[in-house]
Amino acid sequence: MRVHVADHPLIAHKLTYLRDKRTDTPTFRRLADELVTLLAYEATREVRVSPFEIETPVATTTGIHLASPKPLVVPILRAGLGMLDGMMRMLPTAEVGFLGLVRNEETLEAHTYANRLPEDLDKRQCYVLDPMLATGGTLIAAIQYLVERGADDITAITLLSAPEGIERVQAELAHIDLPVTLVTGAIDERLNEHGYIVPGLGDAGDRLYGVV
Ligand code: URA
Repeated sequence: MRVHVADHPLIAHKLTYLRDKRTDTPTFRRLADELVTLLAYEATREVRVSPFEIETPVATTTGIHLASPKPLVVPILRAGLGMLDGMMRMLPTAEVGFLGLVRNEETLEAHTYANRLPEDLDKRQCYVLDPMLATGGTLIAAIQYLVERGADDITAITLLSAPEGIERVQAELAHIDLPVTLVTGAIDERLNEHGYIVPGLGDAGDRLYGVV
């Protein structure tokens, strides 16, 4: 897996306010949305395009548009939903599929409880949205699932990642012979004994949806 930390002062600035426990839910949601749009810009550098001829008021020229099949955006329920609008702003013609994965808070393993994805993902570029790459269990399960369905190019976008989670994803997906990329806003220090990212931002789902 290629790992790209989107190192930019605007991203670091917005992440600082996102981390701050005094940030209220509406502000948290807006910042997450803005951050995803900036991360999406980095994450879509290699989105597939095809040539497209147009006429300007002056001349005929060849530009580009998104190639078919269109990219598939896959927010991981529930917290990934908070990243969907920001992503779709950058890729408005992408398709969206939903994957519900929840981690068991004792074993920290991911379990699939919902799946609304197109049947055929053959040759699809997929963008997986999940704000926190903590233990890596959810991301591993999501990527393995998409690969089994035929996806052949997967980019995960996270706001924050833990070094332990990145290492585990690297190890468990080492056998997958496909381009997998992680674009993240920052790599934090570590995970604590409860599987939370330190310093992190707390529970992203709770902070997005107002359960505190
Ligand atoms: N999920 C979260 O929402 N926060 C963490 O710190 C780890 C996993």
